[in-house]
Amino acid sequence: VNAKKFGDDLVGWFEQEMRDLPWRENQDPYRVWVSEIMLQQTRVDTVIPYYNRFMEQFPTVEALANAPEDQVLKAWEGLGYYSRARNLQAAVREVHETYNGIVPDSPKEIFALKGVGPYTAGAILSIAYGKPEPAVDGNVMRVMSRILSIWDDIAKPASRKVFEAAVRELIYRENPSYFNQALMELGAIVCTPTSPSCFLCPVQSHCAAFAEGSQQELPVKSKK
Ligand code: ADE
Repeated sequence: VNAKKFGDDLVGWFEQEMRDLPWRENQDPYRVWVSEIMLQQTRVDTVIPYYNRFMEQFPTVEALANAPEDQVLKAWEGLGYYSRARNLQAAVREVHETYNGIVPDSPKEIFALKGVGPYTAGAILSIAYGKPEPAVDGNVMRVMSRILSIWDDIAKPASRKVFEAAVRELIYRENPSYFNQALMELGAIVCTPTSPSCFLCPVQSHCAAFAEGSQQELPVKSKK
């Protein structure tokens, strides 16, 4: 795969097709952070109204840091996985106290925040700060397994590193933010789990699985 051409095709498609989502209004790292935490176990359509209400109620790091926990949990009601809200507030308090309210832009510091794993760290670094860091979740593993014909078992935690390395190879230096969001969007809309719409795919010509007809067999995902 030619990384430059791949990125041109993928990001060009994203610029055309990008949905108007509230967390895409600007690149405020705090807004990106909250959106990625909400989106981890919850689908986009469900997240939108919660996200808008949450941002009205807690528009800044400072506002969320100073809010009583029960108010935050109340705003999260219905989204589930409440530990996400607790960890988010704890981490936001740390940013408020330790970093003067500025979300750090180094992988090490971001990574040390409660509830921020490799995916969220990569999403904040790329989307808010434009850094060429991978943001690999299940959707991205599915897309990349097909593009590059990677047969590592995505159910195994060790496989994440393989996919992160693959994204690092391909990442679009001109726009890492759009590149990562385009991979997520492609996974959500085109390169779906059971019957991918290859005929609509902007990177079909780069796709190893399409060429060999293995798109239905990938990704490999063992039952745990
Ligand atoms: N899923 C996870 N992160 C997302 C984002 N930034 N936009 C759309 N869907 C997502």
